[in-house]
Amino acid sequence: MIPFIDLAAQQARLKPRIDAAIARVLAHGAYVMGPEVREFESRLAAFCGARLALSCGNGTDALALALMGWDIGVGDAVFCPAFTFTATAEVPPWMGAEPVFVDILPDTYNLDPDHLEAAIEATWAEGRLTPKVVIAVDLFGQPADYPRIQAICRRHGLKLLADSAQGFGCTLGGEHPITWSDAVATSFFPAKPLGCYGDGGAVLTNDPDLWERMDSLRVHGKSTPSDGCVAGHDAKYLNARIGMNSRLDTLQAAILLEKLAVFEDEIARRQPIAARYGAGLAEVCLQTPIVIPGGRSTWAQYVVEHRDRDGLAAHLKTRGVPTAVYYPVPMHRQRPYAHFAKGPGGLPVSDAKSEKVIALPMHPYLAPELQDEIIDGVREYNG
Ligand SMILES: Cc1ncc(COP(=O)(O)O)c(C=O)c1O
Repeated sequence: MIPFIDLAAQQARLKPRIDAAIARVLAHGAYVMGPEVREFESRLAAFCGARLALSCGNGTDALALALMGWDIGVGDAVFCPAFTFTATAEVPPWMGAEPVFVDILPDTYNLDPDHLEAAIEATWAEGRLTPKVVIAVDLFGQPADYPRIQAICRRHGLKLLADSAQGFGCTLGGEHPITWSDAVATSFFPAKPLGCYGDGGAVLTNDPDLWERMDSLRVHGKSTPSDGCVAGHDAKYLNARIGMNSRLDTLQAAILLEKLAVFEDEIARRQPIAARYGAGLAEVCLQTPIVIPGGRSTWAQYVVEHRDRDGLAAHLKTRGVPTAVYYPVPMHRQRPYAHFAKGPGGLPVSDAKSEKVIALPMHPYLAPELQDEIIDGVREYNG
């Protein structure tokens, strides 16, 4: 079977450096919040031009830390797409807020700005919830339409949180999503474009006050310098707010430092692979990926649309080609989320896309010969 994501190929490239990085952590023994964590945070921020980065336990907590840092709570509306991974919609209800589902654009699969604005206006008009935050997702690796979404957020006084778990490293006009957002959340789950060897996540922001509150929240709400401390006591045991335990392990930070060093090269390697797929598949698929003008995708996933995706998946399996479906059921159709509000007119694009999308193997080390085998497999199914 061809690997769907070949982490072993990446490890073969980096193994001596990763082994040495792990050995250094074992030698110094600071397994929690060790020096690699701070170094990784500053390199991560520099990579995407953010002022600050705060690492945490996973990408889901990264979303939660930003929302908690803004005091989002009961009665607040958080606008997000329904065609996304669960975590985007899962986090607002943790703090008593509600997701309001917005439809996506049919070409990029990212938040539809017109439908977003209609959803915000309808929520204001109804008066049950207070619009507070928009979560824009960089689905499959490509940036959402940040300039338009930011303008809408400003018009309505909302915070903009980028869920860049799949898209960390993507750019629009050469700029990273932090250029337009109040915070960016990302995930280092192993299969993500920048992944570690376990769970990990981070939030990027240009706002030092938000960073300080999130730093407190990731360690059980410990006191920060601005909270004021009682002299003589460890801030860790003086709690200024209710928080959580969500830290990036030092070992994962050490591994990520090595992976970050080759990340730009890996994003560059993915571009010709996506282009080769596009050239080979455009005429046999209903749709091959369309990237927003000026956008660069990290190609976390290479997703096409097919008239018979189940038949195609079964056929490719017989040829040793794995596939995956992201996402078969949009969030507004999932039982725990079905009662939450939707933008006016519902989500017809999300519904239609969830029936046709299918993802093909994609990673920076996918050899042209293997790619051609995959392309041939898809073309053959079409006869
Ligand atoms: C769009 C999106 N948001 C959030 C997450 C959550 O990240 P994690 O699995 O690290 O909690 C993921 C990935 O799993 C994701 O794809």
